[in-house]
Amino acid sequence: MYFIFLLITGAFLPVVLPCSVPPGAVFYGPTQRTILAPIVFQGRVINTTTSDLPTGQIFDACVEIRKIFKSPFEIPTVVCFGQFGIEELCLTYVFEGNEYVFFLNEDFTARYDGFPEAAYLATQEIVAAVQAGYCQASIDPNCEPPKLENATFEFVKRIQEGRSASVHCRAMGSLPIVATWYRGGELVSFEKQQGNMLKINDATMYDTGRYSCVLKNPAGEATAETYVQIISTACGAFVAVYDDATFTIESPEYPWPYRRGKSCSWRLCPPQGKSLEFNFTTFDLRTFDNLEIVNECDQHRHPWRRFCGSRVSPGSFVSRCNSTCVQIFLDSGISRNRIARGFQATVKATEKEGTGFNVSEIFCNSNLVIKARVAVMFSSYLQVNVAVLEIFKQAGPTFIEKGQEIIIKHDFTITDMFGCATKIKEGAECYIFASLAEFIEDGLYIMDFAVDPASTSTPVNFVQQLNRVKTDPPQCDVLPVF
Ligand SMILES: *[C@@H]1O[C@H](CO)[C@@H](O)[C@H](O)[C@H]1NC(C)=O
Ligand SMILES: *[C@@H]1O[C@H](CO)[C@@H](O)[C@H](O)[C@H]1NC(C)=O
Ligand SMILES: *[C@@H]1O[C@H](CO)[C@@H](O)[C@H](O)[C@H]1NC(C)=O
Ligand SMILES: *[C@@H]1O[C@H](CO)[C@@H](O)[C@H](O)[C@H]1NC(C)=O
Ligand SMILES: *[C@@H]1O[C@H](CO)[C@@H](O)[C@H](O)[C@H]1NC(C)=O
Repeated sequence: MYFIFLLITGAFLPVVLPCSVPPGAVFYGPTQRTILAPIVFQGRVINTTTSDLPTGQIFDACVEIRKIFKSPFEIPTVVCFGQFGIEELCLTYVFEGNEYVFFLNEDFTARYDGFPEAAYLATQEIVAAVQAGYCQASIDPNCEPPKLENATFEFVKRIQEGRSASVHCRAMGSLPIVATWYRGGELVSFEKQQGNMLKINDATMYDTGRYSCVLKNPAGEATAETYVQIISTACGAFVAVYDDATFTIESPEYPWPYRRGKSCSWRLCPPQGKSLEFNFTTFDLRTFDNLEIVNECDQHRHPWRRFCGSRVSPGSFVSRCNSTCVQIFLDSGISRNRIARGFQATVKATEKEGTGFNVSEIFCNSNLVIKARVAVMFSSYLQVNVAVLEIFKQAGPTFIEKGQEIIIKHDFTITDMFGCATKIKEGAECYIFASLAEFIEDGLYIMDFAVDPASTSTPVNFVQQLNRVKTDPPQCDVLPVF
């Protein structure tokens, strides 16, 4: 933990890292650049001016224009424009007195398509390549704008979840033709674009949507739109649980990792007069995925519990009311943050009482339990300073007093007692469960989780139980103290 912390602070030092091009980035030559950029001209750099951020590393250039190849509007003969910079930032450097061909966006920022190079020294070869990148149909009879080959274009593409497929975007017209795929105005990531193809690998529900292929050539452009529909495979079940029978529910493809971007639901119903006993033998979700458990007897079907990640398991419990069904929802996000096997649980009918919330166990598992007000949060140092309002338990080497301000370190995400990400704000009151750990400076606690008493995820009687535990502490096994 401490070493991770050092690495993170290291990242904030003003070090200049070598320029690394995103994997799969396309290299475009001067002809294709001319096709793609709205403004292309040749000019001599009069002077350059550095801007402040990062200090002296990004600068503007003032240029005296010699020749305009391409522009949607009139441009004065001297213009100053920006975002050039040092090679380490993957930006083009231009020098005073030299003549370049510039590729610019309509707002006069330097234009970088794929591999960065927004200005080329204006040699004869470069100028010839640039001239091949535009033409006017009114003057040149061989100058033809791109026309989509709609016989081979798929306007709707259906892909089975988990499969791979591609959509081609072929065109006729003057060469070269550059095809680029967009989704909702955003460039589709390079790994999903190959030549004129949109390529979707291991499709998830998040890939569903409208994609447009923009075709550009020296004479103009054309756009075609395709709707990609991902066909989901069903998951979940409706189960009537009979007496003396044990049923197993598990995430899809268990014990293999379950798909990203998927929702599954189970509805389990006990026999008349009975409740359901669950026993989660595996619980291993990706960090931001969650499993909700809803007792149908609860008003508004508000989740009884919401579990996330892999640190906290629902364990074994009995549903809240007899004769009523329980619903379980697995919701997986797009993030690929870790390999997770999913969950597996057995379910059977029981006459036992519903399981209530019991604070004893979580109380025993932490070294420090306090009510606190958040004074300052230092996100970059992964720590919060809190004012101690009430102490329920402490077992550290240094004695903490009410009113004192202490530092609590935390992980990248602060979670609640069920492993779900929670936000704690400066000035807010919360309950903090924290522990001592090896490799951490003396007297510093690491947060196990934080409880926002106002959150709907917090069990209703949490505060009452904590107060009861304070007056009558449970017998806990001794925790290691470092
Ligand atoms: C750079 O050149 C432009 C255009 O000639 C001029 O307006 C500007 O003052 C110059 N800047 C510097 C810092 O010399
Ligand atoms: C394909 O293109 C031709 C000519 O551009 C047009 O007449 C035809 O309607 C198009 N077909 C579809 C399915 O868009
Ligand atoms: C089921 O719940 C009802 C209402 O809470 C209760 O009256 C009844 O005794 C329960 N039945 C069993 C078998 O526990
Ligand atoms: C849950 O299942 C595990 C593994 O099969 C078993 O060891 C444990 O006793 C079960 N717990 C309950 C409460 O049934
Ligand atoms: C809570 O759990 C502890 C130990 O796990 C047990 O001794 C205690 O009886 C439980 N309390 C309730 C109210 O179920």
